[in-house]
Formats: sequence, C-alpha cells, structure tokens
Amino acid sequence: MIPVAVPYIARNSSAYVNEALGDAAISGLFGRFLPEFERSFADYIGVEHAVTCSNGTTALHLALAAHGIGQGDEVLVSSITNMASFYAVLYCGATPVPVDIDLDTLCMSSEDCLRKITPRTRGIMIVHLFGQSAEMDRLSAIAAEHGLAVFEDCAESHGATYDGKQTGSWGTAGCFSFFANKIVNTGEGGMVTTNDAALAERMRSMRSLSFGKVDKFLHEGIGFNYRMDNLKAALGCAQMEEIEELVAAKTRMGQTYNELFRNEQRLILPVERQRAKNVYWMYHVRLADDVAPRRNEILGKLRDEGVDPRRVVVGHAQSYPVFDYHAEIARRGAFISFDRMGATNEYDRLKTFRMVRDILEAGFIRNLVLSHDVCYRSDLATYGGAGYTFLSTELRQYFDELGLSEDDFQQIMVDNPRRALTGAE
Ligand SMILES: Cc1ncc(COP(=O)(O)O)c(C=O)c1O
Repeated sequence: MIPVAVPYIARNSSAYVNEALGDAAISGLFGRFLPEFERSFADYIGVEHAVTCSNGTTALHLALAAHGIGQGDEVLVSSITNMASFYAVLYCGATPVPVDIDLDTLCMSSEDCLRKITPRTRGIMIVHLFGQSAEMDRLSAIAAEHGLAVFEDCAESHGATYDGKQTGSWGTAGCFSFFANKIVNTGEGGMVTTNDAALAERMRSMRSLSFGKVDKFLHEGIGFNYRMDNLKAALGCAQMEEIEELVAAKTRMGQTYNELFRNEQRLILPVERQRAKNVYWMYHVRLADDVAPRRNEILGKLRDEGVDPRRVVVGHAQSYPVFDYHAEIARRGAFISFDRMGATNEYDRLKTFRMVRDILEAGFIRNLVLSHDVCYRSDLATYGGAGYTFLSTELRQYFDELGLSEDDFQQIMVDNPRRALTGAE
C-alpha cells in the first residue's frame, strides 16, 4: 500500500533519545532537549518565544486560554480544518464561529471573516490548510482594525510562508502539531510560537499545572498538564537539524504532482500563489464536474490498487451550517497519496499518477508497469551507482508514455533525498 503518511525519522533521533534515556531525563520537567527544541523552532519560525506542549490540540487550547479567551467570547474559525481548532475554542467555554474558505487556497476567506465579526468576537483562528498559507496581510489588517487576536493553526504548514514570513510568526500565537504525519514530527507533540513575552510566560506556567514560583504547590491558577517530555523533544531536535531539507522535499513532491497532473482536465489542482509558498504538506485535488459524482468509487479503486487516498474532511459539514465553498470541497475534495520522505516515493508518485489517470479515463487500471519489485530494485540501482545507470526497457517505455524525458527522470530521481533511503551521508 502506498500510504497516506509515513513518519520520517531523522538521522540523529536514536542518538538523542538514547542520550536522554542515559540521563534518565524522560519527563517534561528537565533535560537539555526541551529548551533546545524551543530555541531552534523559535529561530526557524522567526519569533522570540516557542513553548513546547503535548500536541497540536493542546497548543491551540493553551494559546487561547493564556490569552484569556473565555465564556461569552466568540472566535472566528476557518471552516475546513481538523476539529481540534473548534474544540480548543469550546474547551475555553467560548463559541467557535465558522468562517467560509477561499476556494483556491482552502484557507479562511477574508470577506466572510469580515461578515462574521460581532461585538463579541475576540479572536480569529486562521488555519493554513494542507501546507498553504492563508492571505495573512488582509486577515492581519482586519484583526488589527477590529482589535482581535490572531491564532494561527499551523499544524499543517511548517515552513510555509506569506510574503516571505513564516506562518506562525504573523499572529498573537502560532500553534503547531508534531503528530507523526506532520513535516516536523515527534510522534505526538506541539508548540506555540509568539513574540509576546508575557503570553509565553503564562503558557509556560499553564502547561505545567500553574505551579507556584515561590512555593511550587501554591498554584498560581488553574493549569493543565500539557507538557512535552524530553524524549519527544530529543526527536524534535533531530528533526530541526534537517528542517530545510524536509520542507524542500515535501514542496518538491507537491510540485512533481502538479507537473504530472498539469494537463489533467478532470482534476482541479492546488494553487501556487505568488505571495504564498505552499509546502504541500498534503497534496489535495478537487474533482471536476464530470467525475465528481464518482469520487467515492475512484477513491475505492485507488485503494484496491494499493494507493491510500482520503476524502477531504466532510465530517465538519454535519457539525455546523455548510457554506457554499465548504460544501464544494466536501463534495469534490480528495487527497491523493501523501508521501514518505525517501524510499520509493518518486516511483510511488508516478504510479499514483498513472492510476489516477487510468481510473479517471477508463474506470480501471489498464497497465501498471511499475511493480514494487521493479521500483525497489531500480531505487537501489539509482542510489547505489554513479547517477542513474539502470533504466529497464519497461521503465523507459513507462516514462516515454508519461512524456518524461530521461533528463526529467534524472531530475526526479537524483534530487530525491538519497540519505533518507540509504542512511548515507
Ligand atoms: C489543522 C489541524 N489543527 C489541529 C490539529 C491537531 O493536532 P494534534 O493531532 O497534534 O492534536 C491537526 C492535526 O493533526 C490539524 O491538522
């Protein structure tokens, strides 16, 4: 099965985790990796402070709670998201108000955001979906004009930028998830980024039961245990050493799909906006009118053939009023295969492309040239030798059919992160 996600384990993961184990630094209260992960993440995002926590959901809750969102408040939330964005508002006793999306970015629509502001609105939760940044200049201007806090849900947007500025550095707080399928992953884990020192301080206190500063057990308020432990932070530090490559590899994967599907009229592909750098955390397509009614059948066939696609998040449509654009995505949206970092990913991508095309065209897989076996052996030949020397007749034919020259193929194959496959330097 070409999976929807496989976590990447960074080069120094075992060494760092073993070091933490050797020091018995396994809790969330001490160990060198906790502050180091926070520092390197803050530097990467370009903010003053970063606060680790147990996952992306608790990152969202921590940010809202530390900002003082509470009963009677409304927070505007982008309507296509993981429900964690909504739950975090509900945990605070506040009311999440869904806002429709822009159809091309799938992120919050600034027009609808403006329409939803009431005297009770205290914040906007902007979700950078699938690796694509929302329109941060306009949304930030709206927030500033109305005195609203901006909470960026960056669970899916590590490394994505708008006007060259990282998502997670625009708002009051940026909330990240390090769940196993995320670009930076620690299995489970989260982080809040901010330039507000007082907010960071409150979050540090609240994530750890609001312990007292003078007498630990004279608590300063009601806190949570949302601590990340030092073992997870060790994984995070190892990942941060490779962040540029991870983001670049992921971006290239999305761009390869764009290239492959360029002439496919039946798919509506993700956009590349000039001011926003899409990192393609998850490659998302919409089905055009003629094939949209067959979505479930198409996804089922892909699954039968060993590609694990997903329908886009339709569950939310049952949870609150459905908007035009939201409904559009609920009806037509699909992920096609997500990518692992390395291994057979370029082959997987071509194979996926071939399958999607065949199913759209003929309703069945006509001629699947690449078997796993061929992929695997070819990969070894590619990465083992000097450049690409092993191109079987079968593969040549296959790439000819795809309209890829040997140069294109070289580019695709040789750019692939070799290290991830072989572990070699
Ligand atoms: C947009 C979004 N927000 C929040 C979350 C929640 O993060 P976590 O699973 O780490 O709690 C996720 C997903 O995992 C997500 O994709």
